[in-house]
Amino acid sequence: MSRRFNEDFLNELRARCDLETVVSKYAELKKRGNSILALCPFHSEKTPSFNINSSKQLFYCFGCGVGGDVITFIMKIENLSYAEAVAFLAEQVGMDLPPEDDYESKTSSLRKRILEMNRLAARFYHAKLLSDEGTQAFEYLKNRALKDRIIVRFGLGYSPDSWDSLTNYLKSEGYNNEELKASGLVSVSRKGVGSEKIFDRFRNRVMFPIIDQRGNVIGFGGRTMGDDPAKYLNTSETLVFKKGRNLYALNFAKASRREGLILCEGYMDVISLHQAGFDNAVAGLGTAFTSEQARLIRSVSDNVYLCYDSDEAGQKATRRTLDILSSVDVKVKVIVVSGGKDPDEFIKAYGADSFERLLTRARARLDYRIDTIKRKYQIEIPEEKTQCLKEITSLLASVKNRVEREIYIDRVAGDFNIKKENLTAEVDNQVKKASRYKQAKENRFAMEKLNKSLLPGEKSNQMKMMKAEDDIISVLLNFPEYANDIESFITPDDFVTDFKRKAYILLTEAIKRNPTVEPLLSISQDITEEEMGKLSSKVRESKSFTVNKTNVKELCENLKKEKSKLLLKEVKTFDDDTFKATLNKLKDKEK
Ligand code: GTP
Ligand code: MN
Repeated sequence: MSRRFNEDFLNELRARCDLETVVSKYAELKKRGNSILALCPFHSEKTPSFNINSSKQLFYCFGCGVGGDVITFIMKIENLSYAEAVAFLAEQVGMDLPPEDDYESKTSSLRKRILEMNRLAARFYHAKLLSDEGTQAFEYLKNRALKDRIIVRFGLGYSPDSWDSLTNYLKSEGYNNEELKASGLVSVSRKGVGSEKIFDRFRNRVMFPIIDQRGNVIGFGGRTMGDDPAKYLNTSETLVFKKGRNLYALNFAKASRREGLILCEGYMDVISLHQAGFDNAVAGLGTAFTSEQARLIRSVSDNVYLCYDSDEAGQKATRRTLDILSSVDVKVKVIVVSGGKDPDEFIKAYGADSFERLLTRARARLDYRIDTIKRKYQIEIPEEKTQCLKEITSLLASVKNRVEREIYIDRVAGDFNIKKENLTAEVDNQVKKASRYKQAKENRFAMEKLNKSLLPGEKSNQMKMMKAEDDIISVLLNFPEYANDIESFITPDDFVTDFKRKAYILLTEAIKRNPTVEPLLSISQDITEEEMGKLSSKVRESKSFTVNKTNVKELCENLKKEKSKLLLKEVKTFDDDTFKATLNKLKDKEK
């Protein structure tokens, strides 16, 4: 899918986009001796663990493991694909992108055609809403108390009760079946061999066009006016529509003069809020909130009022979304709409002023969490009070900032009328337990990952094998001049983990192709962001370790040795199994 760039072009681009300069636009840099440090912009931290290696033009965060070159940095921070990040940087330094190859220009022109179809469809649905055919839909919106101006502002529409009205219209505008299918506006039915029929995906629904920040119509939500089990139907994923990457009405909300954003669940909530003057409301698009959406929010505002439905599902989702938003450092406050299921119903029942009061009374994240816990217990009963405090204690233990923790300890101790020292001691205990637990979990996770990528067999040698592989990769990354030697001793088949084998092949090829370029930079478009992070962690600032021909040879021999040990273990396990199977057969016979 993704386009490949000419290496000379990429090298020139990197030369013009100095990593330090680029990063400094997003994070404050601190010089410590030879190193350049910053508070990591990708996770929340109080002491800087984000390192820039200026001579190699690579960064790495020891806190969250993100790392790579200037392109990786832009991909992550601007939430772009590799090709988009390259285009972003090129534009900043005034470089023209090299012409696209055939395949790519096809996808990018298809993308354009889809956007055009979406825009035509939005106009088509809107016109239908205002025509006789749309009378019922228009009445429906009126019954939901929407004014004409808001219906027009949001470009609401109606998809006729027909199998082919939009399909025929788009065909008459010159779009073919393949393009229609790629737009997600039609569905496909296959009856018999070779006969394929396409038909309108949205039928007899009120239509909500979804518009991105650039003003493109990227998809639709359609609501049934009856009791269709699918209350809402959304555009399926297309080249231009990825659910977890967009927010409904962000195009309007980012231009709002109101402070912060209001994040709610549904299309109708957003529209009601905008109509009532809260034009900073946005909504996710029917999927669970994603960290991509959180970063999208952060690019517009660092302050969010979370206003999900007051039912159980809504409150469960609230907790999840709270955590995701906090993890990217967006300040969140929670609004719980009382006396109505969702913001739309609340506004209808109580009016805009009441909602404004809810906003001013929004609860900070921790207060909200504590409230929720308290509501579950009857604290007049001592056992319940103890249980309730236990839960609050572990919540407080999860607060990373000590000052914040202390403030809340104070408050809870006062609230529950207990000694502050006791609560502090309990919380501290939990903090220690949690960090032990976290460490154990991390170890287990690392082992599981390792085991998945290895041959079956006994596990005891795998750590050594991993280390042997890592050693070779580290030499290639830091001492590319030894690539030739290494290749004379080992082959890609000597690697056991898929990722290290791939890294080995890519790195040795890149070093041959372009021995003067930092090897990790040369392979940046062939590996994922996660792989980039892992490899960046192995690039050393200065040559803190040295190698020579002899120990390179030793490292290679070691890799071969570990590999053969693993294979041996595998054979042995197999033998054991055969042995057991035979034993069982014998036992069966005895019966
Ligand atoms: P109204 O009943 O029109 O007020 O809708 P709502 O906005 O209150 O919707 P609800 O709280 O039921 O759902 C919130 C959001 O989840 C909607 O806006 C949709 O984006 C999504 N959603 C709801 N029902 C469905 C469904 O049946 N299918 C899909 N794909 N998404 C849905
Ligand atoms: Mn609703």
